[in-house]
Amino acid sequence: MTATTDTAVRHDDPPLPPVPEEATMVTLKISRFNPEDPDAQGFESFRVPALPTDRLLNLLLYVKGYLDGTLTFRRSCAHGVCGSDAMRINGVNRLACKLLMKDMLPKDKSKEITITVEPIKGLPVEKDLVVDMEPFFDAFRAVKPFLMTSGNEPTRERIQSQTDRARFDDTTKCILCACCTTSCPVYWNEGSYFGPAAIVNAHRFIFDSRDEGAAERLDILNDVDGVWRCRTTFNCTDACPRGIQVTQAIQEVKRALMFAR
Ligand code: SF4
Ligand code: SF4
Ligand code: FES
Repeated sequence: MTATTDTAVRHDDPPLPPVPEEATMVTLKISRFNPEDPDAQGFESFRVPALPTDRLLNLLLYVKGYLDGTLTFRRSCAHGVCGSDAMRINGVNRLACKLLMKDMLPKDKSKEITITVEPIKGLPVEKDLVVDMEPFFDAFRAVKPFLMTSGNEPTRERIQSQTDRARFDDTTKCILCACCTTSCPVYWNEGSYFGPAAIVNAHRFIFDSRDEGAAERLDILNDVDGVWRCRTTFNCTDACPRGIQVTQAIQEVKRALMFAR
């Protein structure tokens, strides 16, 4: 970006935001909420440059770094590992760091697109794109997502066959991002439902041949707010950034309840 000669630039002006020459301009329409000024909530738009190699997270960081430092969102690893930047992007739950701009940008650079960014649904918004994750983690903790055994500690590792390990491999991949649970219509409407992520994490131990707590977990999930609330609409599977077959895992837990594993 070049400053024109008729623009008076004072020495204390903030630097002009950088715009790479090959960038396409994109409008980010971001849902804003400030608990200290709740009446001012609504969408705010920002024009930002995007390169095909950018992730949506880069664009949000651009807004925060150059245009409005008060914009609030969670992120940590920026590589789809920590699960902290789940948000609703154009109405679909995604991790901002996994959404490549090359898949969003139009071929014709003169056409400017608008991308809507909102917090994930079904959890209380704390500020802008940050939600209170505690109800989500409460459900996760309720299914006892840890190895339960009895007897003395073994003196060496607990042996498991490759076939037994493969039985729950898919559900070990969960990064607790909440994309699935907050895309579930049952969870939106009946907040007491455990939600798919909790069931996925129960599945990970129910089908682990080394674990002895399956009956206890199944009993918990047999509750009125447990697996039976699921209506098998597959939103959760579509939303999972790790490609976990979430609905299938829920079906397997239901089957385990019906046929005592
Ligand atoms: S399959 Fe079940 S858990 Fe998944 S979104 Fe649908 S109702 Fe929710
Ligand atoms: S199952 Fe997938 S979408 Fe759900 S919390 Fe785990 S990683 Fe996220
Ligand atoms: S920032 Fe860690 S998953 Fe996106």
